[in-house]
Amino acid sequence: MDTKGDGFEEEIILKHELIIVLDFGGQYNQLIARRVRECNVYCEIYSYKTDLEKIQRMNPKGIILTGGPSSVYEENAATYPKELLELGIPVLGICYGAQWMTHILGGRVAKAPIREYGKAEVSIDFAHAALFKGISNPTICWMSHFDYIAQVAAGFTVSAHTADCPVAAMEHTNQKLYGVQFHPEVLHTLEGQKILANFVKHICGCTGDWQMRAFVEAGIAKIREQVGDGKVLCALSGGVDSSVAAVMLSKAIGRQLTCVFVDHGLLRKDEGDQVEAVFGPTGHYDLNFIRVNAQARFYDKLAGIIEPEKKRKIIGEEFIRVFEEEAKKIGAVDFLVQGTIYPDVVESGVGGESTVIKSHHNVGGLPDYVDFKEIIEPLRDLFKDEVRQAGLELGIPERLVFRQPFPGPGLGVRIVGEVTAEKVKIVQEADAIYREEMDAAGMNKTVGQYFAALTNMRSVGVMGDERTYDYAVALRAVNTVDFMTAEASEIPWQVLHKVTLRIVNEVEHVNRVLYDLTGKPPGTIELE
Ligand code: XMP
Repeated sequence: MDTKGDGFEEEIILKHELIIVLDFGGQYNQLIARRVRECNVYCEIYSYKTDLEKIQRMNPKGIILTGGPSSVYEENAATYPKELLELGIPVLGICYGAQWMTHILGGRVAKAPIREYGKAEVSIDFAHAALFKGISNPTICWMSHFDYIAQVAAGFTVSAHTADCPVAAMEHTNQKLYGVQFHPEVLHTLEGQKILANFVKHICGCTGDWQMRAFVEAGIAKIREQVGDGKVLCALSGGVDSSVAAVMLSKAIGRQLTCVFVDHGLLRKDEGDQVEAVFGPTGHYDLNFIRVNAQARFYDKLAGIIEPEKKRKIIGEEFIRVFEEEAKKIGAVDFLVQGTIYPDVVESGVGGESTVIKSHHNVGGLPDYVDFKEIIEPLRDLFKDEVRQAGLELGIPERLVFRQPFPGPGLGVRIVGEVTAEKVKIVQEADAIYREEMDAAGMNKTVGQYFAALTNMRSVGVMGDERTYDYAVALRAVNTVDFMTAEASEIPWQVLHKVTLRIVNEVEHVNRVLYDLTGKPPGTIELE
């Protein structure tokens, strides 16, 4: 994906075996790419609107056609030049992809008499089918379709079926064309990873030598070439993405890189110092590090503000203003770093228009008026877990690499109502205790995201002989796969009890601790 015309992606592709996922707009397309990469084979997603010549030029070892929302026999259904299937490159069609292949080659796709949705028992019709090497018979697969292949195209053999679907899998081995009605990429397909590995390794002949180390090295070499003796500016938040991006740049160009870290006073306890310890002058990396202690500025702006959206807006705008002021002091730079990752780049959209490159300036919300010539995005080909892997390869401390998600507006969205320096201190202390105890109980590895928040409620309590009138801290812990939905985690009673005791004893101005049992929906993970 050489959007900048700089040859970067081509360089990576030439060095690695490549599988292309041709996106017809299905909802699991990023998952397909991930599963292929889990076979140590590099994989990229392209819209079905990508030119055939471009696909050919990239010289892929195999092509996977995704699912999609249309019916192949509808007038405006997503389609592709048939020549794709005549290149001699192995093709695997998944769901819509298999139906499209059938339709364009003269088979028949029709509305299924019985719509299949959910797990289905798939019977393999002949043991030698290359896709099903080493797969149990029957095997459980995930189905989600209203159309089905009623008649395979000439030359195809049916290799698997279910009770309701006569063609659950098909193949035309001479032409290296394969199709499955089910979704091997989702975890509900129990042996899906093996089925995809069979395609990628046995059918496409990939050796699976793609390693994160090679990716990181190629990325560093490329940055060096791209930047030359230019100056680079990076907004470092201490989060995983910006940290990994900064380290890659530091390894590539050393002190041509300046990282600006804005401490907005809404970070977790000691976090600003931790970021400085890693990236600052006594830290591990060769770069210029500027820490801006803008706490007071943010607290001033937030004084008296209660409405959540307003608070978020103020924090976002102030952040940009502070960053901009620093950028002005530094003067013109050649490049601005953005920690854009692959899910930001590829948006699986209805209609298969998935390869939407977001406007650079929108991705990180950085201002247009910082004086730079080009954006540099060293992580734009990586998924989140791959960014973490890259971080480990680069020797970034695990604590940073496996950091929980932390919102840009920070504790600002974990303090209900007005933000004050005093409230920030309370929530920082309570949160530090909570995290310490969760670590000690080993819960930090099993719970998706957890933190302490400060409610806007004060109530009466008693301490010693005195009555108190203090705040209630809310503990939150959720399990989530995608952060779109979440459930409250079951934290052992002893852990909650201990955290509660410690918070009311150790944190001034807190006399009550509550556990938030709300899921998302109807709650959100953060409190504002
Ligand atoms: P909510 O509260 O919307 O959070 O259920 C979902 C996930 O997103 C994180 N989050 C943010 N991350 N900037 C971010 O970078 C934000 O403004 C923001 N708000 C919420 C939140 O921590 C959770 O992981």
